Amino acid sequence: RTISAQTAQIDKAGHKHFMSKEIFEQPTVLAECLTHYSAGERVALPEGALDFAETDRLILVACGTAHYACSVAKYWFEQLAGLPCDVDIASEFRYREPPVSDRATALFVSQSGETADTLAALRYAQGKAARIVSVVNVPESSIARESDLALPILAGIEVGVASTKAFMNQLGVLANLAILAARQRGRIDAAREAELLETLRGLPGLINQALALEERIHKRTGKLAEARSVLFFGRGAMFPLALEGALKLKEISYIHAEGYASGELKHGPIALVDKTVPVIVMAPRDALFDKTVSNMQEVLAREGRVWLITDAEGAEIAGDGVWQTLVMPRIDPIFAPMLYAVPAQLIAYHTALHKGTDVDQPRNLAKSVTVE
Ligand code: G6P
Repeated sequence: RTISAQTAQIDKAGHKHFMSKEIFEQPTVLAECLTHYSAGERVALPEGALDFAETDRLILVACGTAHYACSVAKYWFEQLAGLPCDVDIASEFRYREPPVSDRATALFVSQSGETADTLAALRYAQGKAARIVSVVNVPESSIARESDLALPILAGIEVGVASTKAFMNQLGVLANLAILAARQRGRIDAAREAELLETLRGLPGLINQALALEERIHKRTGKLAEARSVLFFGRGAMFPLALEGALKLKEISYIHAEGYASGELKHGPIALVDKTVPVIVMAPRDALFDKTVSNMQEVLAREGRVWLITDAEGAEIAGDGVWQTLVMPRIDPIFAPMLYAVPAQLIAYHTALHKGTDVDQPRNLAKSVTVE
């Protein structure tokens, strides 16, 4: 069936756009995904499905938003499991012809399972990597069928061209895989595994709290809609989320946006800062938060308008001086990108509403890119 035939059968459930409906579905679909991938205190995958102790490298390949999900997961696989991890854009991977060790696990992430470049990258890795794994939303897709193991993200049909709930559930599956890898590689004990899974299970509730900030975000994005350019900053696993926040904003509001690692501020983007360029800093209070604060001070010293998205502790440390602060629920920083995806999505969505752009069918973009 085509996407349009499928969409004829689903409605917006009272939302103005599919994108809004899909953003608000996240607590439910994430909870279902997490239940599927963990049983009580342990990650649950069929026996022998994946052995991360045997693998020497994880290669993550995808396009667009799925590529940013991979980039977040790299932090998890490396930090939790000590597993070296490469992340590639599928169109680069397939033509660069990188060496792939026969002990590597190649993992392809795709909502549609039909993206031409991701499929070609998968075929390139076939016969080279020890195992081809995919994380997909459409279980009968080409990418799923051509993998040794296809893991469904269970997000339900996603209609909005700008991916939201699929991103969330891609992260849900990848988080479980990283925890599994950490256990198999002897990096965590049963107690830590249970604790990490409990943090994940707490996410749907926290996401609901973040969704309750919608009205506030709507009011504050009025000014953003007037900007010609917006910068997003994040550190650690929040860096790829900054990239995703910028992507969401440009996709549906057509405002130029760039994401940067906070530590890169001095290496270029600071030249752009003035009072017309909003700077969105996504930073839960973590071990490096004081460094983020000093980055913000440099922006403020140049009359930059900082919109800080943080938790209560972060807001207190940062103090006054910033343009505006959005206070998020507290979460273990390791999984913060999943929670902070929500304000990133709502910022893009509400900026687009202020601008009056076509949110579900943004110009020039397709939901699934099946040609090069
Ligand atoms: C298109 C869509 C994006 C998506 C990307 C990858 O560009 O507009 O939302 O992230 O393709 O798609 P996939 O189906 O492979 O996740």
